[in-house]
Amino acid sequence: MAILAPSLLSADLSNLAGALKEVSVEGVEMIHLDIMDGHFVPEITFGSSTVYWLRQKTKLELDCHLMVANPEEQIPLFAKAGADWITIHAECTYHLHRMLNYIHELGCKAGVSLNPATPLTNLAHILSDIDLVLLMSVNPGYGGQKFIPSVLPKVVKMRETIEAAGLDTKIQVDGGIDPANIREVVNAGTDIVVVGSAIFKSPDAGSTAADLAKIIQ
Ligand code: DX5
Ligand code: ZN
Repeated sequence: MAILAPSLLSADLSNLAGALKEVSVEGVEMIHLDIMDGHFVPEITFGSSTVYWLRQKTKLELDCHLMVANPEEQIPLFAKAGADWITIHAECTYHLHRMLNYIHELGCKAGVSLNPATPLTNLAHILSDIDLVLLMSVNPGYGGQKFIPSVLPKVVKMRETIEAAGLDTKIQVDGGIDPANIREVVNAGTDIVVVGSAIFKSPDAGSTAADLAKIIQ
């Protein structure tokens, strides 16, 4: 069983409130928000003030995926804006353990994301400090990219490691997931599946999200 986290990245960004409402359907408990800074990744999306306004409109969990080069500056802003989960990239900090403590001190759940080429061993000594491991199945920066299948054995390995350590760390997978591959992603051991363009480029985002949530329940 897994849960679906629709990503608003591929929605009409001039109408985020509308997109949020569209995918607030049965089976959806978490909304994935892709924060891009124009440094770690080329595009810029939106920042903590947008998250603040989305927070006023929903009780769903807000899952902020920070693709930013300076997480230490952004973490307090997103915590204050009402994020429930703050995920940073391992590639963006020399002080990952310190950043995780910082997120926890601010009352949020802490995630670490790994690019497709970043090994799981980077997390070996801090796994018990992490609430969520986000394994990227595309290179971060854009919606609508093709799924990179080599993430699947990575998910299997991560699941084995978490279970062997007796931890409750969640595994999230993000990028290129659609109705054709979502079961495979869940079967590998994923707890939270992020889906962007397969939802928002479909004719009816709400019913696609509800169908995908049901498939993986
Ligand atoms: C990519 C983002 C993803 C993206 C997923 O950098 O982290 O969350 O929105 O979108 P799709 O499902 O279109 O790959
Ligand atoms: Zn994301």
